[in-house]
Amino acid sequence: MEYNYKIYTPEEYAISMAKISLDKYLEKTSKEKLLDIKIVDISCGSGNLLLAMLEELLKVSKKVFGEYKYSEKWLTGFDIDSKALDTLKKRAQALFFKYGIEGNLNIKECDSLYEKMDEKYDIVIGNPPYLGEKNHKEVFHIIKETDFGKKYYKPKMDYFYFFIEKGIDILKEDGILVYLTTNYWLKADSAEGLREKLKSEGEFFRIENYSHSIFKDAIGQHNVIFYWRKSKSEEEIFVKDDGLEYEIDQSNIFGEEHSKINLIPPFCKKNIEKIRMNSNKILGDLLNVNQGIVSGADKVFVFDEYKEEFGDYLKPFYKNKDVGKYEVSKKPPFWIIYLNGKSKLDENLMSYLLEYKSKLSLRREVVNNRINWWELQWARDEEIFLKPKIVVRQRCKTNNFGYTENPFYSSADVYYLTAKNSEVNLFYILGYLNSKVFYYWFNYIGKKKGKNLEFYSTPLKECPLYYPDKEEELKEIVGLVEKQIDNYDEGIQERIDLYFSKIMGIDIREEQ
Ligand SMILES: C[S@@+](CC[C@H](N)C(=O)[O-])C[C@H]1O[C@@H](n2cnc3c(N)ncnc32)[C@H](O)[C@@H]1O
Repeated sequence: MEYNYKIYTPEEYAISMAKISLDKYLEKTSKEKLLDIKIVDISCGSGNLLLAMLEELLKVSKKVFGEYKYSEKWLTGFDIDSKALDTLKKRAQALFFKYGIEGNLNIKECDSLYEKMDEKYDIVIGNPPYLGEKNHKEVFHIIKETDFGKKYYKPKMDYFYFFIEKGIDILKEDGILVYLTTNYWLKADSAEGLREKLKSEGEFFRIENYSHSIFKDAIGQHNVIFYWRKSKSEEEIFVKDDGLEYEIDQSNIFGEEHSKINLIPPFCKKNIEKIRMNSNKILGDLLNVNQGIVSGADKVFVFDEYKEEFGDYLKPFYKNKDVGKYEVSKKPPFWIIYLNGKSKLDENLMSYLLEYKSKLSLRREVVNNRINWWELQWARDEEIFLKPKIVVRQRCKTNNFGYTENPFYSSADVYYLTAKNSEVNLFYILGYLNSKVFYYWFNYIGKKKGKNLEFYSTPLKECPLYYPDKEEELKEIVGLVEKQIDNYDEGIQERIDLYFSKIMGIDIREEQ
């Protein structure tokens, strides 16, 4: 199982999730109804969230009734891990003892996604298991065949989407769902269906976004805690985005493209709208966006020196750190044997590769009969490495787009932007991609993981830009960009930034 399959919610977050969701729920319900509340965690583990909720409920009961009261209806927990549930039972007993109460929780060992749940709940709380389909094909294969899976399965989704969807389905009208998850789904293509469900059946009232992991044992993760109500009231959403706190209108939370969830502070919103309004194209109208090579066996195909004997097949192979702003490294650190379906292998190369035949034959595309055993797994269309092109690192802290007309082959962590036709001027677009305006757009609307921008195909293609009709206007920027490619200069960059800020009608100098 993956590393974050079973990492329990840290106490301080569990307490605040319990407190905030319960307070919100009680805003609309008379306190006397406290004993009727029903709360569930459908992947409760050893109960960090349920126990935080239990303690919170007991404290509220004391305020309402003048003494600690407990209702057996309150808390239900499901999990597939019997040991974790045993621990939960013991921990619950210790807590009951602390408050002088006799009681039990409703705990059931089961797979929540297969469990028929007729009961509806007032609050669904959770930190569901994160599992990608890639390494857990079997789990997804089985659930896909069920009615539930047929309804909610989407390619490339994460398993935790199912727990959100199930959570919504077992929530009462007006009930509250609070979940801690990774924040990838806010913009991921695979989560469009999930976002649509959240959008149509209710609304968020609070989102806490963390561009770091809140789990000590799952470094590299970025989390979100979202609070959502199964009804609509049009109240503003309170957002805590790392250190920044602000409110967003319900009408602004879901973006126009694929209902992506946009966390945009109000002071930036106007600028984002201006960029949209003053653009006349999206990048995908003008450019093809492709990912670099996946060899499936770098040890066989990639060398750190030029090998004379494979000279006819060797191509310069670069790392993503060879991509800079406007430029790329001139000297390749590696060489790759570039082989696609059209390649004709000479004897020498064939005898070298035959040594690795059994290993190479295990690669997915070979197993699926899509390529010959000696080809690169995904060689891509070779044209993209040869044509004039803009290149960018898949993940980068800022917008550094390089340019080269030389052969430039690299791995899948580099993206290639090539002109869709001969009319398209790559220099002008390169200037835009390296500008502050573009950073501004991508930082808020594009794709991010933690502090890194993620220049993947879909978010790149969807970026709006202003592309002039007149040659004259193009020329001004093209000239400046050519200078930057030759020799980068801050002063020239300011002129490029200024041009694009003016075109978009915004002043972003202060805000970066
Ligand atoms: C990340 S842990 C969170 C536990 C707890 N909610 C918390 O916040 O501390 C996820 C839990 O999901 C449970 N789990 C995984 N798949 C499940 C399934 N299909 N049905 C029920 N529980 C499941 C695991 O056993 C694990 O206890």
